[in-house]
Amino acid sequence: MLNSKIAGLGYYVPEKVVTNHDLTKVMDTSDEWIQERTGIRERRYAAKHKETTTTIGAAAARIAIERAGIAPDDIDFIIFATLSPDYYFPGSGVLLQRELGITNTEIGALDIRNQCSGFIYGLSIADQFVKTGMYKNVLLVGAEMHSMGLDFRTEGRNVTVIFGDGGGAAVIQPTDNPEEGILTTKLHSDGTYAEKLAFISPGSHGGYHAKKLGLEDRFGFDRSKEYGEIFVTEKMLEDKQLVPEMEGQFVFKLAVTKFPEVIGEALSAVKLSAADINMLIPHQANLRISQFVAKKMGLGPEQVYNNIQKYGNTTAASIPIALCEAWEKGLVKKGDLVCLAAFGSGFTWGSALIRW
Ligand code: ACO
Repeated sequence: MLNSKIAGLGYYVPEKVVTNHDLTKVMDTSDEWIQERTGIRERRYAAKHKETTTTIGAAAARIAIERAGIAPDDIDFIIFATLSPDYYFPGSGVLLQRELGITNTEIGALDIRNQCSGFIYGLSIADQFVKTGMYKNVLLVGAEMHSMGLDFRTEGRNVTVIFGDGGGAAVIQPTDNPEEGILTTKLHSDGTYAEKLAFISPGSHGGYHAKKLGLEDRFGFDRSKEYGEIFVTEKMLEDKQLVPEMEGQFVFKLAVTKFPEVIGEALSAVKLSAADINMLIPHQANLRISQFVAKKMGLGPEQVYNNIQKYGNTTAASIPIALCEAWEKGLVKKGDLVCLAAFGSGFTWGSALIRW
């Protein structure tokens, strides 16, 4: 079996910088609170009506494709990870294909919904396809336009201040050098706490999960109507329920347990230890989470890359943006052991070890 490697990386962040101070003009928050709890100083927001999750992903993809030394038409499979797609359906994978001008209909496009661990899930899928010889140039994109759906009232501040827009991309190709490439990927999920970090409506749930879990039925469905009144209702709009929600402390506590666990699992699978890691690129959820994980694993600051200060949490895009930025700065070099790790909504979490 072949190995697969990342042959090209790219990232794109929108021009518009939104500082913590900017957010204090629309909601009751402060630069001090945000920096102290999350490490975030600023984030980027896409240009409304001009940019979308797909265009952000495409901008990153063009760079990755060029760096891989190929043309868009050489891509034989697309994987698009996002929680903020342009359309409810079809997914952003086919929109990306069109945006990149790929007219080859022999290729496939897959959309994945794994939130913060989307890039690692996508990398694992790409790895399996490339290793078995099925595809030679898989384009993996993680992109988000969170700013389109955040709650800019004070009620939404715990979630809104964290997130930013951006995209990252990688081209995954086969290599016959057994010393390089993706060494292992580990994926996990636990649906028990799906509602702890979720964008619940619109959807088909019709209050089902809330009832089963004994949660407040607050969705305002008109049950007297025989058809419709499920996906999106007037009451959901009136009550401003079409926004993301999160139990921050619950997520935080689980994240700081799962990150070290899943990194350790990947290291044991290839008989390496934390000391062997040259660069850990954790999903940029919160600087405090990254610092906690680094401490728990005995990693020094030179072994961990963080850029949440500039971009906030860009969910599926955070790992490829950070990886690409670290690589551009010369912090990821040939022969290095690179570890990617993520935890997020679902919950889903995962890790990947790559010999660069
Ligand atoms: N500005 C000012 N005050 C705020 C803000 C804000 N932006 N947000 C919350 N507060 C207030 C709360 O109202 C609360 O006030 P109270 O004590 O008067 O009730 C107080 O600050 C503490 O609130 P907590 O939510 O307990 O704050 P916490 O210290 O937990 O920090 C945070 C919140 C930053 C969200 C943290 O819990 C966190 O980072 N959690 C993990 C997030 C994460 O990893 N998400 C996963 C990835 S995202 C994905 O998968 C899509």
